[in-house]
Amino acid sequence: MPLPHLPTLLARRAKLPGEGTTVYRAAHTTETDGLFALDVAGDTGVLSLYADLTPGEETRLAAACGDAAGLAGVYLKRRPVEARHAANVAREWLSPPEPVWGEERTDVVALENGVPFLIRPGDDLSIGLFTDARPMRAWVREHAPPGGRVLNTFAYTCGFGLNAALGRAEVVKNVDLSRKVLAWGQENYALSGLAAPATDFLYGDVFEWLARLRRRGDTFDLVILDPPSFARGRGGVWRAESDYGALVASAADVTAPGGRLLAMTNHAGLSESAFERLVASGLTKAGRRAHLDTHLHPGEDYPGATHLKAQVWTLG
Ligand SMILES: C[S@@+](CC[C@H](N)C(=O)[O-])C[C@H]1O[C@@H](n2cnc3c(N)ncnc32)[C@H](O)[C@@H]1O
Repeated sequence: MPLPHLPTLLARRAKLPGEGTTVYRAAHTTETDGLFALDVAGDTGVLSLYADLTPGEETRLAAACGDAAGLAGVYLKRRPVEARHAANVAREWLSPPEPVWGEERTDVVALENGVPFLIRPGDDLSIGLFTDARPMRAWVREHAPPGGRVLNTFAYTCGFGLNAALGRAEVVKNVDLSRKVLAWGQENYALSGLAAPATDFLYGDVFEWLARLRRRGDTFDLVILDPPSFARGRGGVWRAESDYGALVASAADVTAPGGRLLAMTNHAGLSESAFERLVASGLTKAGRRAHLDTHLHPGEDYPGATHLKAQVWTLG
């Protein structure tokens, strides 16, 4: 397999650690002919493979990445397109819990813009932080409404909620369907020295929570929507391309007048303009006048990436 010149790639990211970011994408698929991506968290690498390689080739690639980036160990994530749809593919095959090269690291604490995050390189296909959304988390930290209330839906390890709390928000609620990731989020809060009450971590289905919050008359000054492209909730299957508008309408119902909505999708099949129409349709359905303030994009470690779209809307 012809390899891109790894030291050249890695040199392009050289300024990130100096800016307080030690978890980032060291090589994106647009720079490797779609063969692999390399993520770095502290001294540990995570190699995502999109090509079918022999075990020997996998290890050689991991070793080349590890050596070039000066890493202690490299974990492997196998991401062949067909495996994502095959129910019988073993989780441990997709995401081996042991490093494929070098030393084991169960937990790594790495920084994003100076904020520590707990990264678990062997845990799962997702390691605790989606680094493509770093500029969006920075936006939340900077624009969290002073003394205001923030609702972070599909919270995963609560990176957005944590940044809102580190900003000037008074109340931040994180909602997720997984107790495991909410507990992980609480660990992230603790790393930053924040003692948030357990009631800031809401377990359950986002769609049910939005309805419950609306019934209670709870409103928020900033609502963050970052759903997976495809989700299975108690209400059935949810797909970004057909159902995002309805999600926005429910979110608008709990957004205070003058409040903002940060809407994101990583659905590669949705263009920026199609996504904008979906969000606008949801706002209209909710009867809210709104204007689009800004688009946000992944950082320089995702050159040429178009999958992640993020829009900030202000609601009247
Ligand atoms: C792509 S991640 C979201 C990324 C996250 N916003 C972040 O800041 O990194 C998807 C998350 O949505 C959660 N999820 C999926 N369906 C859900 C639902 N119906 N209600 C609540 N959480 C859900 C999953 O448990 C997972 O943590």
